[in-house]
Amino acid sequence: MSNYQWFNEILISWNQTHNNRMMPWKGIKNPYKIWISEIILQQTRVEQGISYYEKLVEKFPTLTHLANASEQELFALWQGLGYYNRCRNMLQTAKFLVLTNQAKFPKSYNSIRALKGIGDYTAAAIASFAYNLPYAVVDGNVVRVLSRIFGIKENFHTAAGKKFFQQFASELLDQTNSAIYNQAIMDFGATICTPLSPKCEVCSFSNKCIAFTTNSILIYPAKKEKITRKIRYFHFWLILNENKICIQKRTASDIWQNLYILPYLETESLEIFTHELPNESNSVPTILFSSTQVLSHQKIIARFYQINNIDNINYHSLENLFVPLDTLSQFGFPKTIISFFKKFNYL
Ligand code: ADE
Repeated sequence: MSNYQWFNEILISWNQTHNNRMMPWKGIKNPYKIWISEIILQQTRVEQGISYYEKLVEKFPTLTHLANASEQELFALWQGLGYYNRCRNMLQTAKFLVLTNQAKFPKSYNSIRALKGIGDYTAAAIASFAYNLPYAVVDGNVVRVLSRIFGIKENFHTAAGKKFFQQFASELLDQTNSAIYNQAIMDFGATICTPLSPKCEVCSFSNKCIAFTTNSILIYPAKKEKITRKIRYFHFWLILNENKICIQKRTASDIWQNLYILPYLETESLEIFTHELPNESNSVPTILFSSTQVLSHQKIIARFYQINNIDNINYHSLENLFVPLDTLSQFGFPKTIISFFKKFNYL
């Protein structure tokens, strides 16, 4: 038994005596309907999701009904919820299960997790609610509750933090009662341990809660770090000479160190001027291709132009290397350059 049995006891007792949250999917055992509800709730608030859930399960009461629906029909019912990929994945999954699993929802965590559109959280929710399998749900509610009560400073928005919470939540889980436990902890987070003004005065954990007893509720849970990315504008020149292309190796200690790129100009804004072109042309050539690459601390906005009339370009400078187009695969290029090469079938 876990050292944290007290947590489980307080939670379950709160659930039995004070949890009056009602939702149409709560307590049901039909994995198909649970799946529908969880997909809706992935990116939609409970209050908004309820009427959509009801319409969907009425119109498509089983997996087979859903599998026979057209995208149009489903989209029509989904209107207003957004993130339509959820719909596409649902249809695809319904068809897949009708074809490969006799129109039945799978019964193990791993086979549920393998379905399109289902991540760790949704798989644990379906496996526990439908089959009482011992998988702990970890969503924003759970992270907030656990962070505060146990004074956890780990950040769920990092890989290590996610692993930590997943592991800790599994340790706390009431293994034989996972359906009730999982719903209870989410309901507790949604109704008592709310993000901005939690109801600590009525909370059954308040004398144990590290955040409350140290008067630091709002520092938990650790916030997603706001990253400010420097925006950089790169203008790359496609310079061809017969079957050769001009590339250069980056040596500076900057992004893409030791990778190859095209000759380029970096500017402070998107605009470039003719005097900045390598071939002294009197007009800026049309843009062949644009791309954006988001790195951890920089955002790279790239534009590619073909430069003709290259007589002034120093072929033999150490910097510029003319290599046959069909040898490009032998060089290492950053993603920004690869996407351009792929678009033009150079790679
Ligand atoms: N959010 C996602 N799933 C939920 C559920 N079953 N109950 C309450 N909130 C949820």
